[in-house]
Amino acid sequence: MNSILSAIIFGVCCVLVAVHAQRQSARSAISSALLRSIIQEEDCEVRPNSDIGGPTVWINMHLIGLEKLKERTNVLQAGLSVDLRWNDPRLSWDPEEYGNITNIFLPIKKIWIPDITIWQSADPTKPFFSKEQKIAQVFSTGDVLWAPKATMTVYSDMSVNNVSDSIEHRATAYLGSWMLNVGQIDIQSSQPIIDLTMMHWSPLHLENTSVSRVVQVFNEIPGFNGYPLLQLNIFATERDNSSKSVIM
Ligand SMILES: *[C@@H]1O[C@H](CO)[C@@H](O)[C@H](O)[C@H]1NC(C)=O
Ligand SMILES: *[C@@H]1O[C@H](CO)[C@@H](O)[C@H](O)[C@H]1NC(C)=O
Ligand SMILES: *[C@@H]1O[C@H](CO)[C@@H](O)[C@H](O)[C@H]1NC(C)=O
Ligand SMILES: *[C@@H]1O[C@H](CO)[C@@H](O)[C@H](O)[C@H]1NC(C)=O
Repeated sequence: MNSILSAIIFGVCCVLVAVHAQRQSARSAISSALLRSIIQEEDCEVRPNSDIGGPTVWINMHLIGLEKLKERTNVLQAGLSVDLRWNDPRLSWDPEEYGNITNIFLPIKKIWIPDITIWQSADPTKPFFSKEQKIAQVFSTGDVLWAPKATMTVYSDMSVNNVSDSIEHRATAYLGSWMLNVGQIDIQSSQPIIDLTMMHWSPLHLENTSVSRVVQVFNEIPGFNGYPLLQLNIFATERDNSSKSVIM
């Protein structure tokens, strides 16, 4: 009698465990099916819409810190967080076919990522983007959001303002694709300035910044349309303790 009861209880437990496992595996089966439907290995080497002109990459920069290098006093170093957004139609899906999933996180090595870098960097061989942020968010519309941290070093024109007696730094940097030019990619800025909401304190006082889209043309390459780039202007002054310095 006792053994029949335990057999029944054991049987019920088995069914419950099996149902639970099936629900869990059903859930990840949807994600796995979604991944299989949107990821094609060799496709990640091909840029989105490559047959009709390529993607538009929207860039929004947030400054984390800005300083002058000790060894090279005409070089400014900026720490940034950079939001990059573009659309890749190959990565879109119908949420109703996949359990109403509207966004997923994918390793960037599985998808196409633009080769964005700082032109005329003061450290030309140093990567702009951190290697740390390896995950991008992909939406069912095919919109991709990747937000890596970045370090930029740029030469600045240093001068002394003989009215305020402060040292001024004016730096210009260009951000864009290293290989792809007009007709193959477009680069746009989401904001006319570098965003400062992530910045806490900097040894330099940031007067203003601007971000604008330019096309850099190299005349020596005939029939060449030029590169779409974002021109970043940074104007900062050195904090000093004299009475004329700007009070924060
Ligand atoms: C998805 O959303 C629709 C509309 O809200 C709903 O009718 C459907 O049951 C949902 N499907 C799943 C698998 O949750
Ligand atoms: C500041 O310096 C520049 C160049 O040395 C000079 O031409 C200018 O007159 C000076 N301005 C003032 C207000 O002293
Ligand atoms: C930045 O500030 C300087 C000096 O105040 C000004 O001349 C310049 O026009 C400003 N630039 C922008 C983009 O606002
Ligand atoms: C400003 O800094 C200099 C050198 O760091 C120091 O000698 C001077 O006393 C300081 N002045 C004031 C008003 O704190």
